[in-house]
Amino acid sequence: MMIAVDKDTCTKCGVCIQMMKGYCIAEQDGFPVFDATLCNTCQKCVSICPSQAITVNGIHSDRISEMHQADPEQIYSLFEKRRSIKHYKKQPIPREVVTKIVSVAKYAPNQNKNLSVLVIDDMQRIAEIDKAAIAFVKTMHRVLFGFKPVELLCRLFYKDIGALKKKMEHNSFQRVINENTQVIIMVTGNKKVPVTERSAPYMLATMMCMAESLGIGNCLMDSIYLTLRTNRKLRKKLKIQEDVFGVLVLGYSNENVKNIPRGYEVNVRWNV
Ligand SMILES: Cc1cc2nc3c(=O)[nH]c(=O)nc-3n(C[C@H](O)[C@H](O)[C@H](O)COP(=O)(O)O)c2cc1C
Ligand code: SF4
Ligand code: SF4
Repeated sequence: MMIAVDKDTCTKCGVCIQMMKGYCIAEQDGFPVFDATLCNTCQKCVSICPSQAITVNGIHSDRISEMHQADPEQIYSLFEKRRSIKHYKKQPIPREVVTKIVSVAKYAPNQNKNLSVLVIDDMQRIAEIDKAAIAFVKTMHRVLFGFKPVELLCRLFYKDIGALKKKMEHNSFQRVINENTQVIIMVTGNKKVPVTERSAPYMLATMMCMAESLGIGNCLMDSIYLTLRTNRKLRKKLKIQEDVFGVLVLGYSNENVKNIPRGYEVNVRWNV
């Protein structure tokens, strides 16, 4: 990603230079000079320039308007009513809707801009992924529960091992994701690039909120994520060369969510 100044637009106001002086931006003849070795493409300078003079890959920024001011009550309501939806209707999601969901990925905090999004909406391919996930669950089940001493050893570290066993056997041997799952979204990247992997959940959360606002049922799926992480053959078949960091599945909800569960609070402590 290339950060540059459009000298025809720059008014030499010095705002960007003042903010980043002594670090990534120096000054020459009143214009900002970006230090490519220190720039982590955070786009802070782009966002504060009063004249939209700083470009990213040659493209000028858009101005924030009143329209961008989201209603906090609506945002709160969105989080309040959000649920992981795992049962879907047999109804395809139009590509325009999926496009809208994935288009917000670029606004998620993404250090190094190293993340990519892969969208799979081919039902046959989705079924193949599910099949691989079932095989993964079966293998894990065999490893953990096929030999009693291993199970007992695991119990020392994970007291809910019994519940895990039941969960694996419950329906994961038939399907891991719902048969009407319409779209699988993966966030991928290079895990060797610092902070990249840790940025991925925020990108998933951003797309998840967009899906929620559009009335599209969605659920994070570690079972698919772990399958992809461990199954090189499947990754090759899907032409995924990078590392997979997280998976979100989508479909029109077939769950009649009517209530907001209460009674659980995150323990928030104030360090005073
Ligand atoms: C990181 C992560 C991975 C998850 N993986 C799965 C999964 O593999 N299969 C599944 O059915 N649900 C999965 N879920 C969804 C959880 O089951 C769900 O978030 C949890 O039950 C809480 O429900 P809520 O999201 O409606 O509050 C995952 C959730 C998270 C946060
Ligand atoms: S994009 Fe961020 S790191 Fe790069 S020059 Fe601008 S403020 Fe500095
Ligand atoms: S903030 Fe914008 S207009 Fe001001 S000096 Fe920097 S690039 Fe030029």
